[in-house]
Amino acid sequence: MRIILYTGKGGVGKTSVAASTALRSAQLGYKTIAISTDAAHSLADSFDLPLGNEPKKISANLWGQEPELSHALATHWGTIQQWVMSLLSWRGIDEIIAGEMAVLPGMEELANLLYILDYYERGQFDVIIVDCAPTGETLRLLSFPEILRWWMDRIFPIQRKAATLLRPMVKGFTDIPFPSDQVFKTAEMLFTQLEKMRAVFTDPEITSVRLVVNPEKMVIKEAQRTYTYLNLYGYATDLIVCNRVIPPEVSDPYFDVWKKRQSQHFQSIEERFSPIPIRTIPLFSSEVVGIETLRSMAEALFGQADPTQVFYRGQPQTLSKKKDGCYVLSLTLPFITKHDLTLNRKGDELIIEVGAYRRNIMLPLTLIDLPVHEAKFIDNQLQIHFEPVKKAGLPK
Ligand SMILES: Nc1ncnc2c1ncn2[C@@H]1O[C@H](COP(=O)(O)OP(=O)(O)OP(=O)(O)O)[C@@H](O)[C@H]1O
Ligand SMILES: [Mg+2]
Repeated sequence: MRIILYTGKGGVGKTSVAASTALRSAQLGYKTIAISTDAAHSLADSFDLPLGNEPKKISANLWGQEPELSHALATHWGTIQQWVMSLLSWRGIDEIIAGEMAVLPGMEELANLLYILDYYERGQFDVIIVDCAPTGETLRLLSFPEILRWWMDRIFPIQRKAATLLRPMVKGFTDIPFPSDQVFKTAEMLFTQLEKMRAVFTDPEITSVRLVVNPEKMVIKEAQRTYTYLNLYGYATDLIVCNRVIPPEVSDPYFDVWKKRQSQHFQSIEERFSPIPIRTIPLFSSEVVGIETLRSMAEALFGQADPTQVFYRGQPQTLSKKKDGCYVLSLTLPFITKHDLTLNRKGDELIIEVGAYRRNIMLPLTLIDLPVHEAKFIDNQLQIHFEPVKKAGLPK
């Protein structure tokens, strides 16, 4: 079973690439579903077929689904949402507004993740292709299990105790809607699901994230940031898809500067993402819509290769916190020695040069201002130790 998520900056071609991957996967005989987690769905437009809340058969072995938020919420979140709604309307907020507000940030993402987990557990499909929303939202989606788990771990047991103790007393003189046992049960069920979700999504043999980019500066920069965070959350990236590359047969001088720029940007993609493999897709002469054009895209992207394979194994970049509060950024850099290493900072980027080899790392927010304490090589790994994060002292 494989789960493949496509993400990247808005408009780079995520939906088209996801749809064409799903088509090829189904063609190879895998039972495949393409599911969109972007509230602004466009999978149906890409396939040029109507899709809806439930999986809809597109062709042999291929299904498509665009779950609406309200449907996903009702399926997975109903009880908790109702409680949040009753709490909000108790505060005098209009029912309709309460209904809107009860969609807490992240609920939508969670509802979508639950769909995917559900398919995974039921083993209905061999391959699940996920067309994600643009980067920011996807990162929120992927970090959600971790964040919610933290919250549930710490807050929920306390709340539950308080609810059990206080409910009879409070009931007497206020009508505060206390969470019912049903709310707690649902929350506990979710908690178990989150645990499973994390296990499934961080298993590199099951789940791969693929970053779709165009050879353009801002697009690459955003993908690089995503990549850093994916590493931080423990998700495996197995492929970079560089879409809209002007093909060599375009000889009109109008495109000369474009082509030159694209080739420079392509080099910078290699610097930023190596050793993750990069595959390219040309800029087609018209937009990529409908099964036939999507097939051509799959052909350009994968050739004869199986698109569901794990294209890269290993995590070339990891960040861990040592007991002394020090963060260590480890990078796999094969075939080099420590003698020729230089480290440079430029804003939130760390530029590593080893001889002719250059790597460009986007630092997570926590590390941006921390000085590097030391750098050492251990078994093909460059380990960069940052000074510990200073704890804010209490005012005297
Ligand atoms: N290689 C290509 N050649 C020509 N047109 C392309 C190519 N890739 C994508 N397109 C077109 O670009 C537009 C945007 O593509 P797509 O919807 O796949 O991007 P997206 O990243 O999913 O966008 P969004 O962030 O809005 O979800 C579509 O009209 C699509 O047909
Ligand atoms: Mg899209």
